[in-house]
Amino acid sequence: MGEAAERIVLEARDLRKSFGGVRAVDGCSFVVPAGRISGLIGPNGSGKTTTFNLLTGLTAPDGGQVIYKGANLAGLKPHEIFRKGITRTFQITRVFREMTVLENMLSVTGLAVPDRVARERAAELIELVNLGHLRAEYGGRLSYGQQKLLEFARALMTDPDLILLDEPAAGVNRTLLQHLLDHIHRLREQGKTIVIVEHDMNVIMNLCDRIFVMDYGVKIAEGPPADIQRNDRVLEAYFGRRRRPDGSAPEPGGHGPGSVGAG
Ligand SMILES: Nc1ncnc2c1ncn2[C@@H]1O[C@H](COP(=O)(O)OP(=O)(O)OP(=O)(O)O)[C@@H](O)[C@H]1O
Ligand SMILES: [Mg+2]
Repeated sequence: MGEAAERIVLEARDLRKSFGGVRAVDGCSFVVPAGRISGLIGPNGSGKTTTFNLLTGLTAPDGGQVIYKGANLAGLKPHEIFRKGITRTFQITRVFREMTVLENMLSVTGLAVPDRVARERAAELIELVNLGHLRAEYGGRLSYGQQKLLEFARALMTDPDLILLDEPAAGVNRTLLQHLLDHIHRLREQGKTIVIVEHDMNVIMNLCDRIFVMDYGVKIAEGPPADIQRNDRVLEAYFGRRRRPDGSAPEPGGHGPGSVGAG
């Protein structure tokens, strides 16, 4: 189980992206091991979604590289990256409100299978996320959690190799959450690679093989969950043990949500 033997599916090298004066991603490098679940965590605004946007071509980097299967993806368009087998879900869902659940599933472009096969796959995936009874319902009538599940299912329509999930559990009720987690485990068993951004630390700590932690656009830690839970820099980022310039303690909770020690 030596780490050196692990196959790398994607590598980010010194990624950079600023918005005006904000360095959203400020020289971030990491490698994503194949066939594993990697977690990307960090306080609000630490650059997680921007990192996903850089990996999927939604945002062009100011600098750096994204190496996937030996080629640099930086600067490619989203559909070009998508065609290479990388797919994602969005923190704010992008479900088509005027389309039914089934139509949403079939709205994915670039399905290299006959319509009949696509419909079968869609029906299967809808069942897997427990939305079978809602297949004819309009996207706009689903609860937020159901939209998250629909988007997750839709992301699997193309049978991608690498799946990036941006807060898939937010707003999903406990029962459905368990289904979602089971499904993510099954994807790993099938050999898929998953990167998940999630604020629910129970989910992250129980699900991930490896965790990367960002703060202010920089990777501040990485390692297995047990190490991350005890990492001083991570605790500092989450609990705000930073001192103000005047030496006083900052407000409890730092600039982040939740508790990193949960679970
Ligand atoms: N399109 C944009 N224009 C301007 N600023 C942006 C834009 N996108 C992100 N930012 C800023 O970049 C920083 C990183 O944001 P990002 O959304 O990547 O963080 P995040 O880690 O995903 O946060 P959260 O946990 O709240 O989702 C924040 O300061 C944010 O305000
Ligand atoms: Mg985000």
